[in-house]
Amino acid sequence: MNDALDGVREHYRATGLTERLKAALATNSAEQQPLAPARLAALDQFHTRGLAATAELAKLAGITADNSVIDVGSGIGGPARFLAASHGCQVTGVDLSEPFVEAARYLTERTGQSDRVSFQTASALALPFDEGEFDVALLQHVAMNIADRPRLYAEIRRVLKMGGRFATYDVVSNGGEPHYPVPWARTSDTSFLLTADATREAIELAGFRTLVCQDDSEAAKAWIAQLRASGPPPSPNLGVVMGPDFAQLAANLGRNLMEGRVDILTAVFEAA
Ligand SMILES: C[S@@+](CC[C@H](N)C(=O)[O-])C[C@H]1O[C@@H](n2cnc3c(N)ncnc32)[C@H](O)[C@@H]1O
Repeated sequence: MNDALDGVREHYRATGLTERLKAALATNSAEQQPLAPARLAALDQFHTRGLAATAELAKLAGITADNSVIDVGSGIGGPARFLAASHGCQVTGVDLSEPFVEAARYLTERTGQSDRVSFQTASALALPFDEGEFDVALLQHVAMNIADRPRLYAEIRRVLKMGGRFATYDVVSNGGEPHYPVPWARTSDTSFLLTADATREAIELAGFRTLVCQDDSEAAKAWIAQLRASGPPPSPNLGVVMGPDFAQLAANLGRNLMEGRVDILTAVFEAA
C-alpha cells in the first residue's frame, strides 16, 4: 500500500472502536434489543448535515427496492443501514479501515439488518467486485482522502451497470488552504481536495454523464450555525468514533466553510 493510504488508515484507526461502541450503547439500551437505524444518526452518519444529507442524496439518485447499491468508503455503516431501511435495497459497504468495517458489522447486527447490508475491508482504488455488479454507487465525504481521482472514478464506473447512477457528496476546495485538523485529515498530508469543477470533470472523464450538480454550501453553513446554537451534541456521537478531539475537527470544518475555503458539492451522474 502507498504512503497516502497508510496515512488515511492511520487517521481512521479507531483503536478498540467496537468495544467503545458496545459500552456507549449499553448505557442506552439492552444488548438484546434491536436498535432503530435512525437512533444512531449522531454517531454513524460521518458527513456534513448527517442523516438529512444521506436521505436527500438517496432521493436524487432515485434508489428503489430492487437496486443493488455499493457505498464506497462506508465508514461505520450509517448511510448503508439507512438506505436499506428506507428504500428496501441491498447495500454493500466497502471501507479502508478494518476497525470501521468491524464496527459497521456489529451495529448492523444490532439493528437486525445483516441480511440486507454487508461490509468488506478494501480500497476504493481496487474494489473487490466484477464489472457491472451494481445499479447505484454512493460516495459520501470520501474523495477528499483520495489523491488518485482518475482511478477512484474509473473503479466506480467499472463496478456499475451501464445506465447505473453514481451519487457523490463531498467537501471540495474553493481555492483557500483549509485550517487543519479537519474531520477527514489531521494534516494536509492526507487531504486531497479538488474544486467542484475539477471533480465534475474527473468524473465525466471516467465515463459518466452529469444528471445533477449543486453547491450545498449554504445548507451546510445553516446546519453548522444550528449545531453551534443547540449546545452539546446528543450522545453517543462521532466523538466515540474519532476520539475526544472530534469537536475541534468539526469546528475547523465549520470555520473553513464559513470563511469560504471549502464548499460542499452534491452531484449525481449516469454511467454512460
Ligand atoms: C468521513 S468518513 C465518511 C464515511 C461514510 N461515507 C459516511 O458518510 O458516514 C470517510 C471514510 O472514507 C474511508 N476511506 C478513505 N479513503 C478510502 C479508500 N481509499 N478506500 C476506501 N475507503 C476509504 C475512511 O476509512 C472513512 O471511513
